[in-house]
Amino acid sequence: MKALKIIRITAWGAVAIVAGVLLAFSGILPGVERPGAVTSSTGTGAAAIGGPFELTTHRGETLTNEDLEGKPYLVFFGFTHCPDVCPTTLFELTGLLADLGPDADNITPLFITVDPDRDSQELLASYMTSFDPRILALRGTEEQTDEAVNAFAAYYEKVPLEGSNYTMDHTAGVYLFDAEGEFAGTLDLHEAREAQLQKLQRLAETAA
Ligand code: NI
Repeated sequence: MKALKIIRITAWGAVAIVAGVLLAFSGILPGVERPGAVTSSTGTGAAAIGGPFELTTHRGETLTNEDLEGKPYLVFFGFTHCPDVCPTTLFELTGLLADLGPDADNITPLFITVDPDRDSQELLASYMTSFDPRILALRGTEEQTDEAVNAFAAYYEKVPLEGSNYTMDHTAGVYLFDAEGEFAGTLDLHEAREAQLQKLQRLAETAA
């Protein structure tokens, strides 16, 4: 009886170890999940993010990566026809920047459209009146857009809908960069608001 019990426990122990190993290698453990496409494209990690780009703001000013030198910033990709994720992100950011107070002035928030065909400067200017005026919407030619997307190791894809309509599949993460231009993680809009504010606060404090 006692021996049988020991065998049973040993057997279950072996099952648990095998299951654990399988789980670890299958990549479904939460810790294994990657934040967006940030580290995927080159495998060299944070150093690969934040390459050169040149875009135009919704106010008609040119903005390049060099303009961001010495300034903490955050960047995310989207498009104005986006039904939920993009407007939600912009809305949440607007609230976070307000709660952050004057320190928010140290952060440059960038919203880069992956749909420059439909997102004209005029449309972006009108769209952005609904959100914090510190958030800059950026657009470029298709070539400039690709350059920016590659600079941040992001991705987008045009997805045809019924008729001649289409939507854009795109990276949804908000990437943070400190004043040295170093990748400082992502902002997860699903995590506790206090945690999000702390991340932005830390980011703002990297400003000289
Ligand atoms: Ni979107």
